[in-house]
Amino acid sequence: MSFIDVQNVWQQYGDQVVLEGLTLSVNEGEFCTLVGTSGCGKSTFLRLLLGQESPSKGQILLNGKPLRSEPDASRGVVFQRYSVFPHLSVLDNVALGLELPHSPVFGRLFGKARREAREQAAMLLKRVGLGHALAKYPSQLSGGMQQRLAIAQALVMKPRVLLLDEPFGALDPGIRKDMHALLLELWEETHLTVFMVTHDLNEGFSLGTRLMVFDKIRHDPHAPSAYGARITYDLPLNENRSKGREALTVPLLAHLNPL
Ligand SMILES: Nc1ncnc2c1ncn2[C@@H]1O[C@H](COP(=O)(O)OP(=O)(O)O)[C@@H](O)[C@H]1O
Ligand SMILES: [Mg+2]
Repeated sequence: MSFIDVQNVWQQYGDQVVLEGLTLSVNEGEFCTLVGTSGCGKSTFLRLLLGQESPSKGQILLNGKPLRSEPDASRGVVFQRYSVFPHLSVLDNVALGLELPHSPVFGRLFGKARREAREQAAMLLKRVGLGHALAKYPSQLSGGMQQRLAIAQALVMKPRVLLLDEPFGALDPGIRKDMHALLLELWEETHLTVFMVTHDLNEGFSLGTRLMVFDKIRHDPHAPSAYGARITYDLPLNENRSKGREALTVPLLAHLNPL
């Protein structure tokens, strides 16, 4: 049994088929990068993994059990932008996740438990390089710092799966490099299973242990929404990454429209 089993998953909105027949198994600790043209259903797939939506057909198992139909602490998520709360300080953004589940009625912890939650949040923020910015608000942070905050916010709940939807897409190339290093370090430390959507093929090849290409292979010119995307390449990258890249970059680049 794999950690995550996606079994013949279809997703359809009205009569638009977005994903068709996705079947894959992912072991714990894999770092999957997902690429494909804009609109082919990558974010939809992440929402299914998060449990924010249920598939129209098929099922997703986590540890052999159907995914809960609501997001829970086993899965954390980071979007390209706006996943942090603008009206909360950096520290509160991360501490909130620890405080809320304990106190659904009053919203906050008190006394020792609250101090401990805040210490834990502060430690994680230090780890992602935001130790100096605990009292700041997101609007006072650069884009890269906001994404560090979003990552800390997702990790504080100790998820087993981290879902990243083009998390570095809005950042400058220099900053992206720093973020790649941070993400790989965190992944190695935590043994997280990662699914990361990127429109940067190089990012996909260099970060992932496995690269998946989403693509629509069936087309009906009279009914453009009749068919959805499938996973057309599923490449292990652990060994000999550069070989995989050489063999596939050319056909892939010809295939993927620049976004
Ligand atoms: N909740 C929804 N209702 C209707 N259509 C949707 C919904 N979510 C996504 N879609 C459609 O599904 C397709 C895939 O979208 P998306 O998963 O965002 O693609 P990607 O992330 O690969 O760019 C798009 O055509 C989009 O309009
Ligand atoms: Mg998307």
